[in-house]
Amino acid sequence: MAGLFASTLRPVILAASKGHGLRHTAERLPVTRKVVRRFVPGETIDSVLDSVAVLRDSGRYVSIDYLGEDVTGVDAANAAVGVYLNLIDRLRASGDHGDAGARPLEISLKLSALGQSLERDGEKIARDNAYAICQAAQRAGVWATVDAEDHTTTDSTLSIVRDLRLDFPWIGLVLQAYLRRTLGDCEEFAGAGARIRLCKGAYDEPASVAYRDPAAVTASYLRCLRVLMAGSGYPMVASHDPAIIDAVSGLARETGCGAFEYQMLYGIRDGEQRRLADSGARVRVYVPFGTQWYGYFMRRLAERPANLTFFLRALAQRAH
Ligand code: FDA
Repeated sequence: MAGLFASTLRPVILAASKGHGLRHTAERLPVTRKVVRRFVPGETIDSVLDSVAVLRDSGRYVSIDYLGEDVTGVDAANAAVGVYLNLIDRLRASGDHGDAGARPLEISLKLSALGQSLERDGEKIARDNAYAICQAAQRAGVWATVDAEDHTTTDSTLSIVRDLRLDFPWIGLVLQAYLRRTLGDCEEFAGAGARIRLCKGAYDEPASVAYRDPAAVTASYLRCLRVLMAGSGYPMVASHDPAIIDAVSGLARETGCGAFEYQMLYGIRDGEQRRLADSGARVRVYVPFGTQWYGYFMRRLAERPANLTFFLRALAQRAH
C-alpha cells in the first residue's frame, strides 16, 4: 500500500500542490481550513504565538515559518519581509532567548517567498530580503534557517546562504537527503561549522537528481547525518522516522557529536516530541502560520496515505 501510494498518488498530489487555481479554491473553503488546523495552527502572528507558548511550556523549542512560496511579484516578497519583521519584534519582546548553546526561538524562511523565483534579479532580491530579516533576527537574539525547495533552486539557495554566513554565521540551512548531491553539500557545510537541518525532502524529484526508493532515501539520510555529526557544525535531525530517531544516539556516540537537536513538524508525532523533550533532548517544532497554507498542506498529504483519507473523509462529510 505504502509503495503504491509513493509511486502513484504521491506524484499526483505533489503536482496538484503547484496548481494556482486549486490553491485559490482550497484556501477559501471553510472545511479544508478546519482540516488544515492539524498542521497549521493559525493564520495570524497572535494565533501562532499562542501555539508557540504551549510548545515552550512543554520544554520544546520552535521554528516559526510564515507560509508562502513562489511569489510572483516584488510587492508580495516585500509583504513577506514585513510580516517576518513584525514577528521578530514580537519574539524579541517575549524575552525568551535561552542559553548561548541554542536559541529556543527560530524563524524559517523560504527564499521563493522572498522573491527568488522572480524573473528579474530574483536571486539578488531574495538575498537582500533575507539579509534584512537576518539583521533584525540577530538584534532580537532569534535564529533563522533557510528552507530547501525543489532541486532547481538548490544552487541558488546554497549560494545565498554562503553569502549570508559571512555576516550571520549562525544562519541555518536545510539539506534534503533524497538529493544525490547532498552528501557533498553536507561535507562542505559541516566542514564550515554550519547549522544544518537535515530532512528527507518533500518534493517530487526526478531519479536523475534524487533517490526515489524510500529505503534508499533513509540510507542516504543516515550517511549524511554521520557526516554532519562528525563535522564541526550543529546537526538538526529533522525527521519523524523511528528508524532515524533510533539511530541518532548511537551515531552521536560514535562520532563524538556533543550538541544536536531533533526537529519535527507541528501536529506530527506530538507524543514522540514530548517523550524526547522529557528525556532531556533538545526538540524543536516547525510551526507554520498564515493564509497561504496550500502548498505546505498538500506536501503533508503526500507524505502519508492516512492524511489523504482523513482529508477526503472530512470533505465527504461536508458533502452529505
Ligand atoms: P517518513 O516520511 O518516512 O515518515 C516517518 C513517519 O513519520 C511516518 O511513518 C509517520 O508516522 C510520520 N509522518 C511523516 N510525515 C507525516 C505526515 N505528513 N503526517 C503524519 N505523520 C507523518 N522538506 C523539504 O523538502 N524542505 C524543507 O525545508 C523541509 N523542512 C522541514 C523541517 C522540519 C523540521 C521537518 C521535520 C521536515 C521538513 N521537511 C522539509 C519535510 C521532510 O522533507 C519530509 O517530507 C517529512 O519530514 C517526512 O519525512 P520523515 O523523515 O518524517 O520520514
